[in-house]
Amino acid sequence: MKTQSIYVCQNCGAQSPKMLGRCPECGEWGTLTEQVVSAGTQSPRSMRLSGSTTLGGGEPAQLLQDIEVQQERRIDTLSSEFNRVLGGGLVPGSLVLLGGEPGIGKSTLALQVLMRMRGTKALYASGEESTRQLKLRAERISGDNDRLYIMSETNLDNILQQVRALQPEVVVIDSIQTIGKPDMESAIGSLSQVRECTSALMHEAKQSNVPFIIIGHINKEGSLAGPKVLEHIVDTVLQFEGDQHYLYRIVRAQKNRFGSTSEIGIFEMRSDGLREVVNPSELLLTANHDSLSGIAIAAAIEGIRPLLIEVQALVSTAAYGTPQRSSTGFDVRRLNMLLAVLEKRIGFKLPQKDVFLNIAGGIRTSDPAADLPVLAAILSSNMDLPVRPGICLAGEVGLAGEIRQVNRLEQRIKEADKLGFKKIIIPEGQKTGITHTNIEVIPVRKVNEALQKVVIG
Ligand code: TYD
Ligand code: MG
Repeated sequence: MKTQSIYVCQNCGAQSPKMLGRCPECGEWGTLTEQVVSAGTQSPRSMRLSGSTTLGGGEPAQLLQDIEVQQERRIDTLSSEFNRVLGGGLVPGSLVLLGGEPGIGKSTLALQVLMRMRGTKALYASGEESTRQLKLRAERISGDNDRLYIMSETNLDNILQQVRALQPEVVVIDSIQTIGKPDMESAIGSLSQVRECTSALMHEAKQSNVPFIIIGHINKEGSLAGPKVLEHIVDTVLQFEGDQHYLYRIVRAQKNRFGSTSEIGIFEMRSDGLREVVNPSELLLTANHDSLSGIAIAAAIEGIRPLLIEVQALVSTAAYGTPQRSSTGFDVRRLNMLLAVLEKRIGFKLPQKDVFLNIAGGIRTSDPAADLPVLAAILSSNMDLPVRPGICLAGEVGLAGEIRQVNRLEQRIKEADKLGFKKIIIPEGQKTGITHTNIEVIPVRKVNEALQKVVIG
C-alpha cells in the first residue's frame, strides 16, 4: 500500500500536507512532526471520531420525548466554591480538566478537595511528585479523609489497574503531561500521548461511572499546554488562575457540559492550603482609601455573584511623544473606547496623558457595568480629587456618553448595601424593585452627570 506523510502540530493538532516551521493554526514554532499514513486509510482525525468512547455506538435513533433521564446525581466535594464552579458538585463518570500555570496551586487544590471529602474513597495519582512529597504537602493542609489513597506513578496502565482494584469514588491524575502509555512510541507529554491517555481516562470514567479530575499545565499564552484537543474531549474545563504575587486564586469554568460557565470560585492561598473566600467583596476592597484620588468602586457581577471591586487609575503627563494606555484586569480596547467618549462627550483632553488602569487584587473583569467606575477613577486621578466616600457605581457607557442598563441590578445594590456603602450610581430608568434599603440609589442618564455626582461638586 502506498504511504504518505502528514505533519501534525503537537500543540493544537492541526494537520498540514507539508512541513512548516510554524503552525498556521495556533502560531507555535517548531511543533509540526511527521506522521506516516497509508493512502486509502482514514486520517488520524477521522479515526479519532470513529473510535469515540463517549457515545454508545450502534443504537438506533430515539424520539426525544421517549428518552428518560433521572435527576443527575452530584457528588458533593464539601467545598462550596469548588461545587459552585462545577455546577453543583462532581458528576459521576465525568472528566474534569483542571488547568493552570505551574505553581498556582492546582495540586494543592486537588489534594485538598480529596482530603476534605470525608468518608469518600479517593485516589490521587501523581506523576510529578513522590509519595513522600505528597505526604509533606498533605501535612500542611487540613482534612480528615481516612479513605484517601496516594500513588506516585507515570504509567497510565498501572494507574488504571489501581483504579479497578481499589474502586475509588473519585480519582485525581496529576498531571496529564507527566503520564503516558509505555507501549506508545511517542514521548510522555507529546500530543499523541496526552490525547491517548485522555481518551483512555474518558473511557474508564464512563465505564466505571467514577469522576476523574485531571490536572493540565498551561503555557505562557494561557492555553492548555500542548493539547488544545484535550478541551474537546473532556466534559468540563476549569481554569485555575490568579497572580502568583497575590493571595487570591480564582477557579473559572471555561467549558461545562453539566453547568454554567459563568461561575467562579475564589480561594485564598495560605500557609495551610487554600481557604475558600465566601465573601470576596470584603477581601477585595482596600480598608481605607477615602482620601486617595484615582480609586472608584464598581458594583460588578462575576458569574451570578455580585462582587464589589476596586478600580484604580493613574493619569500622568506623558513622558514621551506617544502617550501610554495600559490596563490590568480590564480590556485595553474598552479602555481606549471609554477615553474617546470622555474626550468627545465631556471635552476632557487626554492626548498628552498616560493612563494606567488596574483592577485591584489581581481580578479580571469583563462586566460592562465597570465602564462607569473606570471613567470615575480616571477622572478622579486626572483632577487629583478623591471620589466621594461611601459611593459605588454600576453602569455601561455607550458611545454617545449615555449610561446603559446593566443586568442583575438588584443584586448589585444589595451587595453594596450589605458592605455599608451609602450611595450607588445606577442607570436611569432601570427598575430595581428594591424598597427597604439603607443605601441611596442615584439614577443617572449621562456620563457627565454621573461623574459630577461622584467626583466634583
Ligand atoms: P502547587 O499546588 O504545587 O502548584 P501547582 O500544582 O499548580 O504547580 O502549589 C503552588 C504553591 O503554593 C507553592 O509555591 C507553595 C504554595 N503553597 C502554600 O502557600 N500553602 C500551602 O499550604 C501549600 C500546600 C502550597
Ligand atoms: Mg503540581
